[in-house]
Amino acid sequence: MILITGGAGFIGGNFVHHWFERQAAAGRVTDEKLVVFDKLTYAGNPNTIAAQLRDGRATLIQADIADREAVKAALQAHRPRAILHFAAESHVDRSIHGPAEFIHTNMVGTFSLLEEARAYWGSLTGADKDAFRFLHVSTDEVYGSLGENDPAFSETTAYAPNSPYSASKAGSDHLVRAYHHTYGFPTLTTNCSNNYGPYHFPEKLIPLMILNALEGKPLPVYGDGLNIRDWLYVRDHCEAICQVLDKGTLGETYNVGGINEIRNIDVVTTICRKLDELRPRADGSKYESLITYVKDRPGHDRRYAIDPTKIQRDIGWRPAETFESGINKTVRWYLENTAWIDTVRSGAYRDWIAQNYAERA
Ligand code: NAD
Ligand code: DAU
Repeated sequence: MILITGGAGFIGGNFVHHWFERQAAAGRVTDEKLVVFDKLTYAGNPNTIAAQLRDGRATLIQADIADREAVKAALQAHRPRAILHFAAESHVDRSIHGPAEFIHTNMVGTFSLLEEARAYWGSLTGADKDAFRFLHVSTDEVYGSLGENDPAFSETTAYAPNSPYSASKAGSDHLVRAYHHTYGFPTLTTNCSNNYGPYHFPEKLIPLMILNALEGKPLPVYGDGLNIRDWLYVRDHCEAICQVLDKGTLGETYNVGGINEIRNIDVVTTICRKLDELRPRADGSKYESLITYVKDRPGHDRRYAIDPTKIQRDIGWRPAETFESGINKTVRWYLENTAWIDTVRSGAYRDWIAQNYAERA
């Protein structure tokens, strides 16, 4: 049994798919189940893992990681061999509008989870205790922003978070580090770059651009559009997590990235051209005509880049997808999965879009 916090979100949900497909591909049939522990905030969607919930390979507990009694009860009932900690408030723009939830989940929630997980681990003995792992899923944003010619982030780059989101993730990383150093708690941490792929909530750049384009709405590019992100297909991230869980050294951190540095404006034009090919506009115009430059994100980090030498050398992980192959799969997925899209675009979603973009006009 493995317990996954945030398993109904974008990366956690993809991880649930990846976990079982990976085992099937290796010819392994296992009765090891996944327990998804998720509060089901606006970003959590059980439809993402409906098949696995239906056939019993996964179980869902709807609760807050900051609720220690709920965490304790889940650990005692399911006795996991590992905890994979994905749950977080994850959107930088929302953290600028309302940081409190980010402190609650990312810092207080991670602290509560660590405390209960440490108590549970302390109750284990022998091989079960030796095998237990707590894998903390974090972000490259904790390292701050790079200049044009700076070397990519490595595991020894000093932390310099710039947004309430990245500061709260940095805080959680420090707690995880301290629990290993002080208590010998068996932790692993991954710091990954920007993910994209299926089931991505359409508040983030790539799904927002795909869906706005299909509806003929403006494509809002912040600032000059020259900010750079390192893009990784989500299943490559999921595979990295599987491999770090299996082979990672306790107490270590691993940077995960695609060596795919792309300017935002180039991401958007790539999506537009893919849509021109797959779903040409009725009036014959190009999707690029919808691109609109809007007011910048406050404190907007200019560039992220990951040096993946450590995970490649020590774990043997490498991404399977290029940006070209990954964005092709992603755009096709959004064209084919309108039912999933309809379930996530609630009234609350529309309110957020109105609030975030009205003030950028
Ligand atoms: P997401 O926002 O799509 O999903 C977060 C999930 O956590 C949701 O299912 C939500 O319901 C759940 N959740 C939120 N607060 C909770 C709480 N208090 N208790 C229990 N569950 C709660 O996020 P994501 O993009 O899937 O990111 C997952 C993790 O990966 C996060 O820790 C994030 O910081 C990290 N990360 C994300 C990216 C990226 O590009 N998306 C890159 C690197 C790292
Ligand atoms: O680097 C990893 C991080 O990547 C994760 O830790 C975060 O959880 C994840 O949300 C992501 O953060 P970003 O802020 O980089 O992602 P986002 O999709 O919000 O924005 C990507 C870039 O696109 C960023 O430079 C801001 C810009 N942008 C975003 C939106 C939503 C726009 O230009 N227009 C938009 O409408």
